[in-house]
Amino acid sequence: MSVQQSFDSLPIPRHVAIIMDGNGRWARSQHKPRLFGHKAGVDSVQEAVECAGEWGIEVLTLYAFSTENWKRPADEVGGLMGLLKNYLLKELSRMLKNNIRLTCIGDIEKLPTDVRAVLETSIKETSGNDKLTLNLALSYGGRAELIRGIRNIVEKVRSGKLSVSDIDEDCMDAHLYTAHLPDPDLLIRTGGESRLSNFLLWQASYAEIYFTDVMWPEFRRNAFLDALREYQNRERRFGKTSAQIKSG
Ligand code: FPP
Repeated sequence: MSVQQSFDSLPIPRHVAIIMDGNGRWARSQHKPRLFGHKAGVDSVQEAVECAGEWGIEVLTLYAFSTENWKRPADEVGGLMGLLKNYLLKELSRMLKNNIRLTCIGDIEKLPTDVRAVLETSIKETSGNDKLTLNLALSYGGRAELIRGIRNIVEKVRSGKLSVSDIDEDCMDAHLYTAHLPDPDLLIRTGGESRLSNFLLWQASYAEIYFTDVMWPEFRRNAFLDALREYQNRERRFGKTSAQIKSG
């Protein structure tokens, strides 16, 4: 049975979010510098995007650079920015061909001007696509996102555009970077750590979380498939009982 056939009767997550961890440790295991691990990580990014498109996942969010990652040594930060820029330049034609829309979340004002320019061009050029949304988290932090959202809401209340009673979960959703996206259904973290590291703190409230020891550079099609299979075996109850879910 092909992967696609076996998927037909099983739920496919609409939105998969991934914390791509383990590039540095993988590079060390190969006696190579950290950037070698990030470069190999770009190949895994490519494969994950390809799989997501094939399997009918609507949104793939990748945690490519956190607010905390700015604290890394300058050469590593520079190397990551270079990889991101090259990836975007190289992949634009493929995104257009494969109907992929690129979006991003995070404080992109902090990105180097040239990287930001390439990012903004790719976002604009792919904005009409509607098969897969590839959403890159760049200079992203969940706490900073919540604070930004709350500040925007407070400003609107102050200026009379919103009243306090309008503030509910939908209102909060609408004031986050992810306002254009459904919440993640499946959140994957590679690299053997079991924490959220400031990723999608609000949005992941009901996500199924999958931790794997596989290092990101080795997270290829079969490892992604394992995560998907595990998701398909979970019962998502959203606070209800198992019996309620089974009776529909
Ligand atoms: C975490 O591994 C990974 C990152 C901080 C960067 C992820 C970036 C890429 C995969 C490449 C560029 C991205 C795109 C979208 C083209 P780590 O360095 O923290 O690994 P460690 O925990 O083993 O040190």
